[in-house]
Amino acid sequence: MVKMPVEVRETLEKQKPIPIATASKSGVPNVVFVGLLKIVDDETLMLADNFFYKTAQNLMENPKIAILCYNSETKKSFQIKGDVMLSKEGENFDAMRSWVHGINNKLPAKACVMVKITEIYNAMWGPAAGKQIA
Ligand SMILES: Cc1cc2nc3c(=O)[nH]c(=O)nc-3n(C[C@H](O)[C@H](O)[C@H](O)COP(=O)(O)O)c2cc1C
Repeated sequence: MVKMPVEVRETLEKQKPIPIATASKSGVPNVVFVGLLKIVDDETLMLADNFFYKTAQNLMENPKIAILCYNSETKKSFQIKGDVMLSKEGENFDAMRSWVHGINNKLPAKACVMVKITEIYNAMWGPAAGKQIA
């Protein structure tokens, strides 16, 4: 696992909505926006499955994710990759439900998607584009 540098955390915190990419077992890519992403700590992110369909299917068969963020003021952009742990009961699930229902108690909060960050890349254009930073 890797730790998010401060500049990555700050860029991700401001990204709204956040594009997340998954892939099926056979490699068919899929990208969706999420509004709800919680930074649990520098190595861990939490997403809420409220309306995932292909995304949910993909994460069940291929528990990997890529997340993208960009700040036009700081001109920073990062690609975060991680391993996913899904849960529909237990401590993480309960924490996800409290968080989501604190925002809107009508949301379905179907599953907790915990992301352990494994790699971070610079995604800003220029000579350092694509370089791994963590
Ligand atoms: C601005 C925006 C924010 C969204 N936020 C979430 C979210 O936090 N959680 C969620 O489950 N779906 C969210 N959605 C819905 C997903 O983007 C997407 O429509 C859903 O996962 C179905 O697509 P899929 O079949 O590719 O998974 C959001 C959609 C938009 C447009």
